Amino acid sequence: MDRRGWFTVVGGLVVALGLAFLVAALSGGFGNPLPTGPVPAGSAQVSRGARLFAARCASCHGVRGEGGTAPALDTDLFRRTYRDRREVAAYIKLNMPLDRPDLHYSQAADLADYLFSLRGRPS
Ligand code: HEC
Repeated sequence: MDRRGWFTVVGGLVVALGLAFLVAALSGGFGNPLPTGPVPAGSAQVSRGARLFAARCASCHGVRGEGGTAPALDTDLFRRTYRDRREVAAYIKLNMPLDRPDLHYSQAADLADYLFSLRGRPS
């Protein structure tokens, strides 16, 4: 095979590996914890989320997400605003804490799980 042929083969392999990686990542193949289904009550991610919430979110959103200087996160209205916990996790990852959005995706996912484990208040 000539030089160009090798470049084509290697280039093709790199692209294929990249695609495989992307598909695996998006479908949760690396243990990606972004939640979609119902929250398992009392699960490890809910307690991790609760601890993180107390440390990083409660100052603005209230100790149990009841609201403060920032909106309440334990209401039915809040749940209706987002399609599912994955969407909430994405919002948190990109925007919260408001003063320093520095969380890892898995932390944002734990927080979303925690928020959805709170009993929704009618609103
Ligand atoms: C410095 C204050 C502050 C901190 C700390 C903070 N938030 Fe917020 N958060 C806000 C404000 C203000 C808004 C409303 C933003 C808006 O409407 O654009 C908000 C909005 C949100 C929303 C969207 C609410 C809705 O009704 O759509 C979520 C979810 C949220 N915060 C989660 C969190 C989580 C989880 C943390 C902790 C990691 C956190 N926030 C920390 C101030 C804060």
